[in-house]
Amino acid sequence: SAAEKAGYDYFMLKEIAEQPKAVADTLLGRIDAAGSLTLDEVRIGAAELREADKVVIVACGTAFHAGLIAKYAIEHWTRIPCEVELASEFRYRDPILGPRSLVIAISQSGETMDTLMALRHAREQGSKVLAICNTNGSTIPRESDAVLYTHAGPEVAVASTKAFLTQLVACYLVALYLGQVRGTKWADEIRAVIRDLAQISGQVERVLETMEPVRALARSLADKKTVLFLGRHVGYPVALEGALKLKELAYMHAEGFAAGELKHGPIALVEEDLPVVVVVPSPRGRSVLHDKIVSNIQEIRARGARTIVIAEEGDEAVAPYADHLVRIPATPVLLQPLVATVPLQVFACELATARGNEVDQPRNLAKSVTVE
Ligand code: G6P
Repeated sequence: SAAEKAGYDYFMLKEIAEQPKAVADTLLGRIDAAGSLTLDEVRIGAAELREADKVVIVACGTAFHAGLIAKYAIEHWTRIPCEVELASEFRYRDPILGPRSLVIAISQSGETMDTLMALRHAREQGSKVLAICNTNGSTIPRESDAVLYTHAGPEVAVASTKAFLTQLVACYLVALYLGQVRGTKWADEIRAVIRDLAQISGQVERVLETMEPVRALARSLADKKTVLFLGRHVGYPVALEGALKLKELAYMHAEGFAAGELKHGPIALVEEDLPVVVVVPSPRGRSVLHDKIVSNIQEIRARGARTIVIAEEGDEAVAPYADHLVRIPATPVLLQPLVATVPLQVFACELATARGNEVDQPRNLAKSVTVE
């Protein structure tokens, strides 16, 4: 009903707007006064977490993209090898699992059959399963050894938005917690990341306040056939998520690519006026990636692409090559997806609206897919 939408035209708009709160709520109560993580809810013992020799993440759709980003954080902060796999592929390839594998199943609904079957398979091999889930008491957390709930609140729109951001927060928390338990991450470093995470809610709020040009751009592209998305490092899964949102909502051909792969195929697709969204890594930190993506933007622009560049405030190097520049606040490299995804959600939602599509209930899709 209109009342449930709290004045918004669509649940999706309401849920996009709720993201600052969802992110803050997912951190709430999980950090003690000293700035350490207190994930008592993770009922897998410290000894077992210390013994884990690999992490395997299984999920579908948007939750899978959260898993792809989690891999960067887990391997960087804990040095435990981490695999990420589509739940629908996982159990059919006879994956190597054992009692020392920690399996993380990410699911908004907690009812996705592919993810459920993957976690059942993992438990049959003796692995411990931690669910990251948004729905209390749903099947996936019930069948897991432990659960870390995301506190996004109910998500109604089929295309996932606030659940995704909170899945990312939960993944970062799990990665830091593993680092804390295993001693691969010093307490002061953990505190520093936690402080950065605590800033994100306000930063997402700021992104939301500056979205009018993104909406205008989306409306102007309503008759396009294809949009490409490029990213590197954690920006690569963000590009995949941007493309998925556009497929789901606007029914447009959209593809996400790792920017480094451009020359190995995708650049052949670039033609006059093709919109290409580029998620630019921070120029600080791993600046080598930043420089590489700037050359990618130049390459596609030289071939006529209309470049839509998502870049940090203060990143001046990209400005000359951006037909449209979308600014996001500066964050630590690994946390950038929390702010970079937001303009892509707004873009897809507005494009769908401009094309007259049903935003909350896209054709052929279901919020929760309970069949394999
Ligand atoms: C469906 C939804 C997607 C969602 C995916 C996984 O396909 O339409 O938005 O990302 O399922 O759902 P889950 O509830 O497991 O996160």
